[in-house]
Amino acid sequence: LNNQLALTPQMGFNDWNAYGCNVSESLIKSTALAMHNDGMQAAGYQYVNIDDCWLTHNRDSSGQLVPDPAKFPDGISGTAAYVHSLGLKLGIYEDAGTMTCAGYPGSLGHEQTDANSFAAWGVDYLKYDNCYADGVHQSGDGGPSAQSRYTTMRDALAKTGRPILFSLCSWGLDSVWNWGSGVGNSWRTTGDINASFGSMLSIFHSNVGLASHAGPGAWNDPDMLEVGNGMSATEDRSEFSLWAEMAAPLISGTNLANASSTTLATLTNSRVIAVDQDSLGKQGTEVSSSGGLDVLAKPLANGDVSVALFNENSGTATINTTVAAIGKTGASGYTLTDLWSGATSTTTGAISASVPGHGTVMFRVAGGTSGGGGGSSPGEVHA
Ligand code: DGJ
Repeated sequence: LNNQLALTPQMGFNDWNAYGCNVSESLIKSTALAMHNDGMQAAGYQYVNIDDCWLTHNRDSSGQLVPDPAKFPDGISGTAAYVHSLGLKLGIYEDAGTMTCAGYPGSLGHEQTDANSFAAWGVDYLKYDNCYADGVHQSGDGGPSAQSRYTTMRDALAKTGRPILFSLCSWGLDSVWNWGSGVGNSWRTTGDINASFGSMLSIFHSNVGLASHAGPGAWNDPDMLEVGNGMSATEDRSEFSLWAEMAAPLISGTNLANASSTTLATLTNSRVIAVDQDSLGKQGTEVSSSGGLDVLAKPLANGDVSVALFNENSGTATINTTVAAIGKTGASGYTLTDLWSGATSTTTGAISASVPGHGTVMFRVAGGTSGGGGGSSPGEVHA
């Protein structure tokens, strides 16, 4: 969406994965403070996002949404003021149907009223869900098309004059990747993730082929990070690696106030974050995928290429590729930086690593030229 937001994928926190409906002002404030103090904000995480269940069940007499006063005693505006005082931004959640998925009032037919409320409260980000599009089915089936319902809210947000990042929670419905870039800053490509390797793996496979639709201001969203929520540390690093390689929004869904040092180290790995946040804004693509061994390559703005070697299987495996396969040529030697260990090595062409079961090794490859032999120079943008 051409609103000058999310020129690189958005980074932040959302409460849903760890807390479900148990959202509150105190949770949002304590999470924001934790992000401010534990290196998350410094690593680039900016948005602190409220998900479903922040509302009361009825609009007021003038038709406005009412935050639950027991959960949000200072309202959304008071919560926003605190989050802003830390230098962070506040996100909120609504739904493009008659009710949110949890049964609170939806924005369908109230788009301008609700957009105006969000802007007046100081909201910086809207995650817009897709339940009850026809007033009956939680699934989002029936009723006006997702594209028309999301476009109405896009226009309502624009009319407020406040920059509000627009995150479409559209679950891949109506092939959202075909129209998402004109309507939102990101769009969910799949159903909900959960904290299991199988869920993460199937979402990875659904999202990885959609690279051509993504670019600055418009990202495929394979759902939030489950890092810290129950997968192994190796699996957590795989999710973080693959999401970065796919230029995905990095929205932590874990309890940040109590996160382990391992979880925080994964979420704040600056070398991996730099791949996700690279200004060229290219989603990585699969160079090869066979027998559960995947090689992905993502071209970067300075001419380097990031490579992810992902082992879907449970036993250790060696994964091989070459600099030519990832689109680099023209040098007698290349430098590989292992983005998890930080170690560097050189190669004349082979790229290879022993990768633990469910693990991912990531390299940044420097040297030569990139762009598939087109004679490009580093930093040149390829259409
Ligand atoms: C469905 C979405 O996909 C989830 O991320 C979450 O927002 C829930 N709805 C909340 O009800």
